[in-house]
Amino acid sequence: MNRNENYIGVFDSGVGGISVLRQLKKLMPNERFLYYGDSANAPYGCRSTAEVQALTLASVEKMMEYGLKALVIACNTATSAAIRALREKYPGFIIVGIEPALKPAVDQFPTGKIGVMATDVTLREAKFNTLLARCGAAAEIVKIPAPGLVELVETGKADSEEMVTALQSILVPYQGELDALVLGCTHYPLALGAIRRVLGPRIVLLDGGEGTARETRRRLAEAELLFAGPGEIIWKNSAENEEILQLCKALLEQ
Ligand code: DGL
Repeated sequence: MNRNENYIGVFDSGVGGISVLRQLKKLMPNERFLYYGDSANAPYGCRSTAEVQALTLASVEKMMEYGLKALVIACNTATSAAIRALREKYPGFIIVGIEPALKPAVDQFPTGKIGVMATDVTLREAKFNTLLARCGAAAEIVKIPAPGLVELVETGKADSEEMVTALQSILVPYQGELDALVLGCTHYPLALGAIRRVLGPRIVLLDGGEGTARETRRRLAEAELLFAGPGEIIWKNSAENEEILQLCKALLEQ
């Protein structure tokens, strides 16, 4: 089998990486994707860094059995905790991570007030704090931890009254205050409608999905590994139940 036909593996702690898969599919409709969510162990965001690293490495090991040509870590939390270990374990393999889209937010509002909503792990890890130090400059950047949102998305409640209530308790202190909100967890773009209901239509919302998709295509093109089609998506999930697979498919089509 020609290596170009191999899958692009897309990994997340659960269904959140589907927000990145949407962008990957839009940019590369002819590719074959293998989406793996570790929903049985989600959320990752409140675990220790060592736990997130071990869970990510174990999931990726399973994904590799399907024959991959590239791996996208479509999870900010797993990227923060495990990207270095993955690159050490699979040297030379194309591995693309995601990070909160802070740079584009600061480029757009160099002296503005920018919120970064992400998991505890992402906000405390060195990777994000290095990014913050690099982008900080004159903008005011506020870290906004957001417990509870991932669980709602994982149970099919991304666009529910419960989500609006949870978002209100997190975001009301920032209503009318922020120029932009960076969605620094891949689950959050799946709740875009509810976020807009709480923060209104004017605020600029940014996430790293599109940039990650562009970087993946660039790396594949450079390695002459793009595929001419037909495209395909294979769904795998550690939770191994039909509902989660149905939820994955519904979220992709949304
Ligand atoms: N989707 C993941 C991220 O981008 C985290 C979700 C979780 O806490 O498991 O950070």
